Amino acid sequence: MNNYYELNISINPEMEDIISDICFTNFDCEGVVLTEETYKDLVMTSTTKGNLRVFLNSLSKNPYEVLKTERELLKSRGFSDEELGSWEITVSEKENQDWSKKWKEKWTVTHVTDTISVVPSWIKYTPKEDEITIILDPGCAFGTGTHQTTQLCMKALQKYFKSGQTMADIGTGSGILAILAKKLGASEVYGCDNDETVIDVAKENAIKNGILINSAINDDVQPIVFELNTADKITKKYDFVCANILHNVLSEIMCDLKNIMKDDGFLSLSGILDEKKQIVLDSVERAGMKVAETLIQDQWVSYIVKK
Ligand SMILES: C[S@@+](CC[C@H](N)C(=O)[O-])C[C@H]1O[C@@H](n2cnc3c(N)ncnc32)[C@H](O)[C@@H]1O
Repeated sequence: MNNYYELNISINPEMEDIISDICFTNFDCEGVVLTEETYKDLVMTSTTKGNLRVFLNSLSKNPYEVLKTERELLKSRGFSDEELGSWEITVSEKENQDWSKKWKEKWTVTHVTDTISVVPSWIKYTPKEDEITIILDPGCAFGTGTHQTTQLCMKALQKYFKSGQTMADIGTGSGILAILAKKLGASEVYGCDNDETVIDVAKENAIKNGILINSAINDDVQPIVFELNTADKITKKYDFVCANILHNVLSEIMCDLKNIMKDDGFLSLSGILDEKKQIVLDSVERAGMKVAETLIQDQWVSYIVKK
């Protein structure tokens, strides 16, 4: 067996999914594991430092250069050094000792609410009678169910989405929100992303959950349609629209999101760090919409918006 490489990146744990996603997109990456350390900073607000261990099958690209470029991109989108963490990197070559299983050790069932859980595909889990489970392989695309921004959208779906309604998931990533909508009884679900690499992952995840996708259309059961697309190109209108994307992107596409909502529909906005919320609130107001409810989890804020 070949040896493997381990990248160690010092991060703010809040950024785990975003940085993991960068690693999966750019490197020959098998899995990631986060270790975190809680501390109090000088103004005595609780915050954390984390270390992301990234397991690579091979070292095809220079990690220092890739991460430098991606960090500059995030900073141009409004993230500060403090929000990102230092991203100090070490790279080491390790002897192979069944390491492909190692990164899986930390993953367990995530109970998002009393009746919604996310289960890694290798774990055998017996749900309660009224429990909805979503089977997912963590780490393949953003949306493993463990990140606060995803959980906030899942909670919004549970509270505001009704069986028989239609749903659009803009920035679908792993497809987790689209899959949940289908399991909540959606009559029609549409998931799109502007990153073509996640579309196949979303489709595979839907299949793992026993859900039909684009290619398996028959007359009786409506599948989920996953495709490479953005909100401005969509002409249909939906009862429930989810968008868990960075605050600056939400702000840019707010009018497009409004255009795909039915008049009495709901929009669930997530991906918003508390200190960036005003940017999103201003764009909601500019689009002539109103916040019906604010949901908060740790430093993350999410809005339920109505026309
Ligand atoms: C934070 S992830 C959310 C994934 C998943 N929906 C969840 O809630 O866990 C954001 C996703 O939005 C996609 N994205 C970013 N900008 C987009 C845009 N303008 N239109 C569509 N998708 C976009 C990214 O590629 C990424 O997959």
